[in-house]
Amino acid sequence: MERVGTHSHIRGLGLDDALEPRATSQGMVGQLKARKAAGVIVKMISAGKIAGRAVLIAGPPSTGKTAIAMGMAQGLGTDVPFTMLAASEIFSLEMSKTEALTQAFRRSIGVRIKEESEIIEGEVVEIQVDRSMTGGSKTGKLTVKTTDMETIYDLGNKMIDSLNKEKVMAGDVITIDKASGRITRLGRSFTRARDYDAMGSDVKFVQCPEGELQKRKEVVHTVSLHEIDVINSRSQGFLALFSGDTGEIKAEVRDQINTKVSEWREEGKAEIVPGVVFIDEVHMLDIECFSFLNRALEDDMAPVVIMATNRGITNIRGTKYKSPHGIPVDLLDRLLIISTKPYEEKEINQILTIRCQEEDVEMTDEAKDLLTKIGVETSLRYSIHLITAANLVARKRKAPAVDVQDIKRVYMLFLDEKRSVQAMKDYQDQYMFNENEGSMAVDTAMEM
Ligand SMILES: Nc1ncnc2c1ncn2[C@@H]1O[C@H](COP(=O)(O)OP(=O)(O)OP(=O)(O)O)[C@@H](O)[C@H]1O
Ligand SMILES: [Mg+2]
Repeated sequence: MERVGTHSHIRGLGLDDALEPRATSQGMVGQLKARKAAGVIVKMISAGKIAGRAVLIAGPPSTGKTAIAMGMAQGLGTDVPFTMLAASEIFSLEMSKTEALTQAFRRSIGVRIKEESEIIEGEVVEIQVDRSMTGGSKTGKLTVKTTDMETIYDLGNKMIDSLNKEKVMAGDVITIDKASGRITRLGRSFTRARDYDAMGSDVKFVQCPEGELQKRKEVVHTVSLHEIDVINSRSQGFLALFSGDTGEIKAEVRDQINTKVSEWREEGKAEIVPGVVFIDEVHMLDIECFSFLNRALEDDMAPVVIMATNRGITNIRGTKYKSPHGIPVDLLDRLLIISTKPYEEKEINQILTIRCQEEDVEMTDEAKDLLTKIGVETSLRYSIHLITAANLVARKRKAPAVDVQDIKRVYMLFLDEKRSVQAMKDYQDQYMFNENEGSMAVDTAMEM
């Protein structure tokens, strides 16, 4: 089953090849300037041009900041590491704030390791196994060919077992890694396609390889620095990767790994792929984290840091000072700032249409117009949330589509922020711990 998440309709930034934003594309609507700016950054990251830079996406609530970051992640592709965290996540009891940030940073630096291996690649002509009389050891011969040559290899016990395990038959095209002896079946040779009628539809046909049987092949893996850290930091390091229980990693381990990776880079065995750390709700970081960021961005193996916030001028957490977005000015000075703006009615309507499709909800045009109006009056997010609820109500009355009456009903059932505030004011006396001036609770507390 596919789950529908808040941003599951976002499939990219919706830009064309010249990085110009299309009005509506890949699930993205409007917010053209911000999308274009985000696209330029994605382009620079993919080209490996920037590292250690930081970007701030700032704007009012529900104007698509998180959505744009998700679009950027998709634009980067799978090879560039992208780590996403909410600023509040780093305040955990298990590790210090700076350790949590360091881990997020190192998760976002990929190391592309190149390995050259010798392989034998060809089509199997014949496998011949001789069992000894005692049954213990097996010997055999494997005949493999390319379009240009044919060779017979002697087989030992181990190779015979792995040929059996892979169910290799004459007519298969295989590769054998010479160092490890690992056998991989690439598929069946086209020339043998007619020999077997009763083959499953999942059989893959490949060409018989050309040229030499023995080849050198380059294999590339990308792992993150964090993964290398974890594997090297504990005896059961590899398992810790799966359980997520990595704990704090010693500085010495990281130093050793950095040295090793630099060596690999010099020898041409590895390349660094700087990725992205996305810190959402960045105003939740405190002054220590901010100064850590200042410093960490200057490291020569730093990723690109993207942050998002909806705060205006507010307190910097952990100090009594105020600053724009709750971010100290020395850090702000290092940021490229992308700003998002509130949506217009038409854009809200389009986003709601996309969300209805994503959630598989049928809605009449009148209902959508009303929902759009609600979106303009309250917030985009509130109106998006009403889609599912209205759909449930419509289904309950067995209607084929969500209509105006369903929207009205859920609008009455669920308060938006403004009406909730009004309700607070109207009934303030009945809530606990109410600190509003002139309320009963405060008055009695003062008298006591
Ligand atoms: N331009 C857009 N195109 C399509 N969907 C959008 C767009 N902008 C926002 N959305 C959708 O609207 C909802 C709210 O947007 P989002 O969560 O990105 O807001 P935000 O700016 O991060 O808000 P906050 O400051 O409260 O975190 C999400 O479901 C998001 O996917
Ligand atoms: Mg957000």
